Amino acid sequence: MNLRGRIVVITGASSGIGRAVSLECARRGAAVVLAARREDRLEAVAAECRSRGGKADSIVTDVTRRGDCERLVARALEIHGRIDVLINNAGFAIFDPIETARPEDLQLMMETNYFGAVHCTQAALPHMLAAREGRIVNVASIAGLMGYERMGGYGATKFALVGFSESLSDEVAGRGIRVSCVCPGTTNTEFFVKAERDKMPGASRLILAVKPERVARVICDAAESGTYRRIVPFPAHLFIRFKEVAPRLAHMLMRRVSGILEKR
Ligand SMILES: NC(=O)c1ccc[n+]([C@@H]2O[C@H](COP(=O)([O-])OP(=O)(O)OC[C@H]3O[C@@H](n4cnc5c(N)ncnc54)[C@H](OP(=O)(O)O)[C@@H]3O)[C@@H](O)[C@H]2O)c1
Repeated sequence: MNLRGRIVVITGASSGIGRAVSLECARRGAAVVLAARREDRLEAVAAECRSRGGKADSIVTDVTRRGDCERLVARALEIHGRIDVLINNAGFAIFDPIETARPEDLQLMMETNYFGAVHCTQAALPHMLAAREGRIVNVASIAGLMGYERMGGYGATKFALVGFSESLSDEVAGRGIRVSCVCPGTTNTEFFVKAERDKMPGASRLILAVKPERVARVICDAAESGTYRRIVPFPAHLFIRFKEVAPRLAHMLMRRVSGILEKR
């Protein structure tokens, strides 16, 4: 699939990776429908897309509310008559040890990062299936492929999203729909304003934070190619491959290196 002339719905489009994906989609000639809660920020991104010659609409959406997700899909269909690509990107993190994590934080992360994607997918999927064409890209994380201390709550939401993506991919195989799961490592966005970066494992500092524009290109490439799994950046991809072959060793290495770096 080429994104030119396609209709792309993007959640979490008001900042960071979602904003960069919106601009990249517009650059590739897609019409974008942008969703998030902050209306002013969302409209500013839509205006940026339009200034680059793209067609953009913004629809204020709280993905934790199923009704909002249904309304988002309904509005996109009203405006364009179809949805070719859905990018489930909205999310946030609070890093805390399980011992002390607040239940309400764990719940809100799951409702946003996991159920937000479930609600939007369930709203858009019937239309894609009827058209026998569509792409769904879920933005998970490396934290959805490897657990680590203080990441239990956030990681659980991303492991859930990875499992959801795998199952959905099998369910729709041969029916014209492709599902992709993109797992970024540390990316330079507002994400860390809320999730204190110091709480990340020390070893993650060895991998330089990537720019949201780079992650956005990978997400758009995944939408076009339908590739199931993409991990960025490449060193994170290598480390996850190593963890899949030797999980205990990978965890031990991560703890050792993090221990050394965190003492500094
Ligand atoms: N930054 C990283 O290192 C990193 C690494 C791996 C994965 N990720 C994932 O990438 C995605 C984007 O994060 P980011 O780094 O771009 O962070 P960001 O700049 O903080 O962007 C998060 C986006 O999600 C939206 N959002 C949050 N809660 C929402 C809700 N209830 N309903 C609708 N929209 C909501 C925010 O918009 P509003 O506040 O306006 O609603 C914002 O547009 C997240 O799923 C995150 O888990 C990030």
